[in-house]
Amino acid sequence: MNYRRGFSIVLMGLLPAIFVFAFLAMSWVRARQGEGGAVPPSQIEKLAVRQPLGARAQARNRGRVVYDHYCQICHGEHGRGNGFNASELNPRPRDFTNAQLWQGTSDERFQYAIARGGPSVGESVLMPAWEHTLTEQQIRDVIVYLRSFAAPAKPQG
Ligand code: HEC
Repeated sequence: MNYRRGFSIVLMGLLPAIFVFAFLAMSWVRARQGEGGAVPPSQIEKLAVRQPLGARAQARNRGRVVYDHYCQICHGEHGRGNGFNASELNPRPRDFTNAQLWQGTSDERFQYAIARGGPSVGESVLMPAWEHTLTEQQIRDVIVYLRSFAAPAKPQG
């Protein structure tokens, strides 16, 4: 007997909780439905700000194609300076995952180094000049990709 009473008391306690939960779930669903409609003006500005991120992600993806084709053989698949050729190179290619390398150096400097080759910036002759192989745009793209080796993983915008 006592057992049955205890059970119904628990049930009575649970009912309001179930109602509250159902109410919350329904208002959540309604809020989500609202998002599917026309974009409210306050959101449009936010979306516009996201555009450059998308362009950068695209540049990075183009840069990866260039890198995998021409650069990873020395600089390594993940930019660690440990590509297939690297053990033959002295000095070894630098570790691109080291954020300090990127913080202190401008895109222009890298642009120049990649186009004109290592000796143009006082580095190894083993770093080839790419100005006759790659377009300026490709060099700019590959720099975006190089920088991403050192950046923490970010959602693609
Ligand atoms: C034959 C091997 C080889 C290939 C292929 C190669 N590199 Fe290099 N790279 C080197 C070496 C060696 C250095 C000089 C050591 C260093 O400082 O990393 C260097 C240096 C660099 C630097 C300068 C880093 C700094 O400290 O300023 C950049 C940037 C770079 N390479 C980018 C590229 C890109 C982009 C490609 C592909 C388009 C490429 N490299 C292909 C061997 C190579």
